[in-house]
Amino acid sequence: MRHPHTGTTRRRVVYALTALVLTTAAAAPAAAEAHEASASAASADGLALTPPMGFNNWNSTHCRADFDEAMVEGIADLFVAKGLKDAGYQYVNLDDCWALPKRDADGKLVPDPARFPHGIKAVADYVHAKGLKLGIYTSAGTKTCNSAGFPGALGHEYSDARQFADWGVDYLKYDNCNNQGVDAKQRYTTMRDALRATGRPIVYSICEWGENKPWQWAADVGHLWRTTGDISDSWSSMLSIVKQNLPLAPYAGPGHWNDPDMLEVGNGGMSDTEYRSHFSLWSVMAAPLLIGTDLRKASPAAFDILDNKDVIAVDQDPLGKQGTVVSSAGGRWVIAKEMKDGSRAVALFNESATAQRIATTADATGLPEAPAYTLRDLWQHRDYNTAGTIAATVPAHGTVLVRVAADTDWAGHPPAVDLGLDGSPLLEAGTPATLAGTVTDLGRTPARRVSVSLTGPDGWTVRPALATTADALPTGRSLRTSWRVTAPAGTPAGSYDLTLRASYRSPSGERVTGTLPLTAAVVQPPPSGTSYLSDLPWLSAVSGWGPAERDSSNGESGAGDGHPISVGGSAYAKGLGVHALSDISFYTGEACEKVTADVGLDDEKGTHGTVAFEIWADGKKAASTDVLTNAMPARPLTADVTGAQVVRLVVTDGGDGIDSDQADWADARLTC
Ligand code: GLA
Repeated sequence: MRHPHTGTTRRRVVYALTALVLTTAAAAPAAAEAHEASASAASADGLALTPPMGFNNWNSTHCRADFDEAMVEGIADLFVAKGLKDAGYQYVNLDDCWALPKRDADGKLVPDPARFPHGIKAVADYVHAKGLKLGIYTSAGTKTCNSAGFPGALGHEYSDARQFADWGVDYLKYDNCNNQGVDAKQRYTTMRDALRATGRPIVYSICEWGENKPWQWAADVGHLWRTTGDISDSWSSMLSIVKQNLPLAPYAGPGHWNDPDMLEVGNGGMSDTEYRSHFSLWSVMAAPLLIGTDLRKASPAAFDILDNKDVIAVDQDPLGKQGTVVSSAGGRWVIAKEMKDGSRAVALFNESATAQRIATTADATGLPEAPAYTLRDLWQHRDYNTAGTIAATVPAHGTVLVRVAADTDWAGHPPAVDLGLDGSPLLEAGTPATLAGTVTDLGRTPARRVSVSLTGPDGWTVRPALATTADALPTGRSLRTSWRVTAPAGTPAGSYDLTLRASYRSPSGERVTGTLPLTAAVVQPPPSGTSYLSDLPWLSAVSGWGPAERDSSNGESGAGDGHPISVGGSAYAKGLGVHALSDISFYTGEACEKVTADVGLDDEKGTHGTVAFEIWADGKKAASTDVLTNAMPARPLTADVTGAQVVRLVVTDGGDGIDSDQADWADARLTC
């Protein structure tokens, strides 16, 4: 069941017409209200009053030999040197594999002398001397999760807790492997009591992966609890976790947090845009911020994300509310977090593979009525004013994170302007295409001397078909823009960058420039007749583990590591092999009629996995299955895609996380 740490698919992000997985977060359980009352016990110890911040080695090293004393102390050094300590990062945490497989003759845990030649106490002393804190890991079972069989604490709770306290440990992550079927609440409560008995303040992190719904019983057991299975360094994994963690908002608060797992920022499996979404979403969900990359090797871009103090302030707000979903449709998410000062942090998160305009209002996020608001963009670090609309065109997989306040300072800031493009840049080489858009003043004050431009790659022609300037745009008014764009004949199919820029002046004369990075796809017209989809180029492909494969199953790691496709005992020579969450799009140019496939979970995974299949024709779901399991034979699926520009094959995780969800589009064909 445990997955190897893998790299992920490189995606080509392209513009499809309207694309979109419809997603809805479950309504907040009402039971949580009552539960708030009993939630004070853990908070009473005064620990983790805001979500814990720090580092854990697991996501970057797993059990590798480079997890050692030098790493841990190096991270502590960097916390200080790079200003991360000042930004609030405090805990330096050791994960699995720090111990020897055998306890000593007295039943005590023994640190691995190859990794920690001076023992754990020496590391704790080092970390403490820097004004930081040390965390450690074990399992609420007979052994930890690693196959080397390191000792777990089940039956040794008081002795192990004592040993941790004696070493100077400040944080314990308590895992769930090899638990011998003992009741979870009992196992986790015993360790809570053992930690309390030491008299040392120790933050207690429950890691049973959400299996026993700890949000219902653990508020007075631990300070945080994992809500899902393990994160991996992929867009699909991160997204699937977001969808599981969002509905649990009512259960989070000071001293008792939902934990959607540690950060992957900087590990290389996602783009910087996706990592900014990851960090924005964790913050708006009041999640623990545990850096999961080896900072000794991290890029400046990773530091910039992890060190964003405007975003960290959202996570660390003392009111301690987890953000809730204001709206979610077509991959356009609005998530708002109430802040102690009355303002709202608002994430405009675009789940889809095409740029989309995402909009809400100050009122919808719970702000009081006011003539205007200050809107701070937390990635640009700039303040604007808005008359009430909170909107932006958000790049594929991106998040615009703002903080909006009904204050009196708004008039000192320039108006917010929304820069957008309608539809999607899909072009056939040599044929001009029209790209239209709008520039809209969202502010209470006018935007003056507005001027807009669109630029494309060298050799492309971009000609305005409408005016590109306006003297003044008052509140709510738009300048319509339109461009004729031609990619030279012979341009190879693929993705190309376009940039839309607007500049304007505030009433006080301040000059403001906004840019919207866009991606255009140069496409080939679909062949007529019936073709296997695995023989056609795709516009974009996302797969949860490993890349989407042609004519083989998905082997979960690198390209080409799958096997012949097999569903319900039947073998297929042709088809697409993916892993949930998956989304593959094909250009059909309004010229095709039908998609057919035999869909199901690949036999490779035995009895594991649950998924559902969907075929989308532009913005419309044209066919879907209910949740399928590995016990089922292949299910024939047919979709009428007449008139669609773009067809998408989507696999969801059936609502239970993406583990073991190897799915096949066997024999998938397109008729044009
Ligand atoms: C489990 C946990 C992970 C990590 C590993 C270590 O999978 O959920 O976060 O601690 O064990 O073996």
